[in-house]
Amino acid sequence: MNIRSLPTTLRGQLRPRVATRWKGPWICNSCRMQSPSKASFSSSRRVLEKPYYVTSPIFYVNAAPHVGHLYTMVLTDILKRWQVLRGKKAILCTGTDEHGMKIQQAAAKAKIPPKEFCDATSQTFLNLAERVNLSYDHFVRTTDEDHKEAVQYFWFVLKTKGYIYESKHEGWYCVSDETYYPESTIEKRVDPVTGQTFMASQETGKEVEWSSESNYHFRLSAFKDRLLEFYKENPEFVVPATRMSDVVNQVSAGLEDLSISRPIERLSWGVRVPDDSSQTIYVWLDALINYITKAGYPWAPGSETVGGWPADVQVIGKDIVRFHCIYWPAFLLALDIPPPKQILAHAHWTLGNQKMAKSTGNVVNPIFAMDRFGVDVMRYYLAHDGGIKNDSDYGNHLIVERYKKGLQGGIGNLVSRITRPKIWSVRKAVEAARDGTLLREGPWPQKQAAMLRDLARLVNLKMEQLDSGAALQLIMDAVYETNKFLQYSAPWQLAKTQDMRPAGPTFPEEVDMNQLRIERTVYHSSEAIRIVGILLQPFMPTKAAQLLDMVGVDESRRTFEDAQLDADFTYGIPKVPVGGGPFDSLFPPLPVEK
Ligand code: ME8
Ligand code: MG
Repeated sequence: MNIRSLPTTLRGQLRPRVATRWKGPWICNSCRMQSPSKASFSSSRRVLEKPYYVTSPIFYVNAAPHVGHLYTMVLTDILKRWQVLRGKKAILCTGTDEHGMKIQQAAAKAKIPPKEFCDATSQTFLNLAERVNLSYDHFVRTTDEDHKEAVQYFWFVLKTKGYIYESKHEGWYCVSDETYYPESTIEKRVDPVTGQTFMASQETGKEVEWSSESNYHFRLSAFKDRLLEFYKENPEFVVPATRMSDVVNQVSAGLEDLSISRPIERLSWGVRVPDDSSQTIYVWLDALINYITKAGYPWAPGSETVGGWPADVQVIGKDIVRFHCIYWPAFLLALDIPPPKQILAHAHWTLGNQKMAKSTGNVVNPIFAMDRFGVDVMRYYLAHDGGIKNDSDYGNHLIVERYKKGLQGGIGNLVSRITRPKIWSVRKAVEAARDGTLLREGPWPQKQAAMLRDLARLVNLKMEQLDSGAALQLIMDAVYETNKFLQYSAPWQLAKTQDMRPAGPTFPEEVDMNQLRIERTVYHSSEAIRIVGILLQPFMPTKAAQLLDMVGVDESRRTFEDAQLDADFTYGIPKVPVGGGPFDSLFPPLPVEK
């Protein structure tokens, strides 16, 4: 039976869950020849649920990763884990960008065949992803066969739709940035070491070289109006807003067509242009397509969204805004594929106020940093201090400071003060809340309760604005507030002092009022630990789990819905020994500071 003769809904059910990838050689058989439009996005056939889809940039393999890459990974991971916490199916895609002049030259310099060169460095990014606990579902390499086929197919459809033409191209090419720069943005510079002059991009300071060759072009200029319309309809397409307006201004000023291939004599390390083996596809076109490769492109009709496309958020650094916010939506619009919903373009980490960059070697090794401070501590520091709008300067002393204030002094101190003393029991306090015998009155407990009722909602609001730094700050503020509450309520004092009875008939003579007050404080503090622990999971998965174990929160009760005052009366018996120094085991003293 021909599948096409079935009703659409049935067809969807007969399809495999993940789109069948086109496996043939790029040269299309007659069926492919006729089908580019069929393979394009058809929103009417969304029969399967679209998972939340978040991507990181794919990293160039010209050198080993640094803390800037770690930051991008951490932000991406927090966004994914947040959705999982909220009960959604979410997919995270990361990987490596392995083609182009930059890699070709780096491999030649190392005297290693390009693929071997890529294998080695790609592995270091994979190791980093593993080490930082990145919850990735796909690690894409642009040298993967399925990716190369996706790129060739994408090209073929662009060509079929008339968006590609051949012509001579002259201009200043920057290998380091893998892009042409207009003449007006080029300047002469002097190398401070050799004293030699060279032409460089004003924007990045990187050397450019004159190139004059015949190659293929994409009709980017034809997309000005469609892009502007798209931005207008999606004013939050780029976050933060300042970068959105930069993009709009840039497109409004006009777009030139884009050179999207290079002669093979110049660039051989890449995906060949279908139909013309004398040309290699431009590395940025190749690289951007990675985001849909692992989402199953080219899609079988009806399965376009199964792999997650359109992406909900694509996380990038501010250095690659033009490629992601102008070229990428233009390529996609050309094929009637919906652009990603949002691009989060974060700021940079600097070291000594210079951008951390592979090309300059001004970097911090992320593995060493995690060896020294721990994985979750680095995740905390990067999420806490990392900039979205503005750059942040990296400093070991700052990590130590954040550690002492937020982790040891904040969370560690709180959990230790609540779980260690033998004069009360978290479990008993929780039972009192369950049985309705808990004392709830009093301005401080009520303030604390109100804070805990609102916390998850407010944190979620920040996460929806893609501001994980602000979300983390709210969680930490709750920790600091709880410590103040605890300090003020001083249950350890109450345990030592005489029962002070309030007037009124509510409490019979035999009730120990101080005991009730202690329970009230312990409960409202334990609730803070429990809620904060749940909300911290996307940020510090291991430490948060440890924290929740220390107050005995069942693993099935760690969802977003549980992060609410009075949502769980089953906890309170530690799952891990807390007597032997929980404070030390959660956030032990750091190795001697250097
Ligand atoms: O641009 N601070 O790869 P890349 C913060 N292959 N983040 C930084 C950073 C810093 N100092 N330096 C790098 C590429 N990053 C392309 C991307 S995507 C289709 C292709 C982060 O290895 C930042 O997110 O040069 C940047 O965008 C990313 O690493 C990739 O840098
Ligand atoms: Mg870069």
